[in-house]
Amino acid sequence: MSVVKTLGQFIIEKQKDFPYAKGELSRLLRDIGIASKIVNREVNKAGLVDILGEIGTMNTHGESQKKLDVFANEQFISALTCGGECCIVVSEENDDPVYIESEISQNAKYIVAIDPLDGSSNIDVNVGVGTIFSIYRRKSIEGKATIQDALQRGVEQVAAGYVVYGSSAMLVYTTGKGVNGFTLDPSIGEFCLSHPDMTIPKDGTFYSINEGYYVHFPDGVKKYIKYCQVMDKETNRPYSSRYIGSMVADLHRNIIKGGIFIYPTTASAPRGKLRLVYECNPMAFIIEQAGGRATDGFERILEQEVTSLHQRSAIFLGSENMVLKAEEMMRDFS
Ligand code: AHG
Ligand code: MN
Ligand code: MN
Ligand code: MN
Repeated sequence: MSVVKTLGQFIIEKQKDFPYAKGELSRLLRDIGIASKIVNREVNKAGLVDILGEIGTMNTHGESQKKLDVFANEQFISALTCGGECCIVVSEENDDPVYIESEISQNAKYIVAIDPLDGSSNIDVNVGVGTIFSIYRRKSIEGKATIQDALQRGVEQVAAGYVVYGSSAMLVYTTGKGVNGFTLDPSIGEFCLSHPDMTIPKDGTFYSINEGYYVHFPDGVKKYIKYCQVMDKETNRPYSSRYIGSMVADLHRNIIKGGIFIYPTTASAPRGKLRLVYECNPMAFIIEQAGGRATDGFERILEQEVTSLHQRSAIFLGSENMVLKAEEMMRDFS
């Protein structure tokens, strides 16, 4: 009889991997797990309770905020505030950093960057949405943590993960020693280890990109899309186009089955659309830890300088050989 291993048990078991860990990171991951279960409960009831639709406000990106965007944001900030291990939260839904100055957080050492609800456009149509998180240790030694503690390159992350609220809720994370996936068992309210040591195939047959913007894509991307569509039995082409409009859902499928996700620069998004700090960096960390590749078409995502909380980046991430092929075509036109 296979013994169920919960997220909590797994985190504690892996704690010995970290010489300095005194349980703080474990508690931080536990806090994120708790908020994810609460968000999942609302996502599952969406349509039955008044949690769909817009609230009439805009976030810093000029995106209309959905009720579930704001609800999820509040849940994560509240769980991180009560948990006492986090000193700053950077969120897609907050223009400025949220400095946590509760009594319990006096010695908090961690910064959490979060996309509380990824794929918001899918909420009202019952299609996959998710949460993305990224964790850093503060660099400043004394006094209050500052925004500089939040502007660290992706290579400095101590942990990153996502939750996908799909046919089941799954939490997938890495602390730099591989990637592990946990499925929520609603009957016991626990995330249970279901996908140990996740690795992405070196090749795949799915390509994920919003081809509606084709005319605005760089020539290298146009060439790669044509490459995906050419008949070639030896390389299993044509590939299949799969684009859900939720990065978490697209990336999760591609990790399991193999594939490439591209959000390049476009006319309306000259620096790309996706945000470096709480979308690109955490997903790049996870993909690299799963044996894949993550660049902006030229340079490694994780080494990009971070100069502002909401800066954007082009992103090519997924199966190593597919990303390398796309980069080859980007170079042909650079
Ligand atoms: P968010 O809902 O957190 O704003 O992120 C949406 C992102 C990403 O999840 C998705 O892949 C992409 O935006 C879709 O953008 P387009 O609709 O422009 O294709
Ligand atoms: Mn958004
Ligand atoms: Mn997002
Ligand atoms: Mn979002």
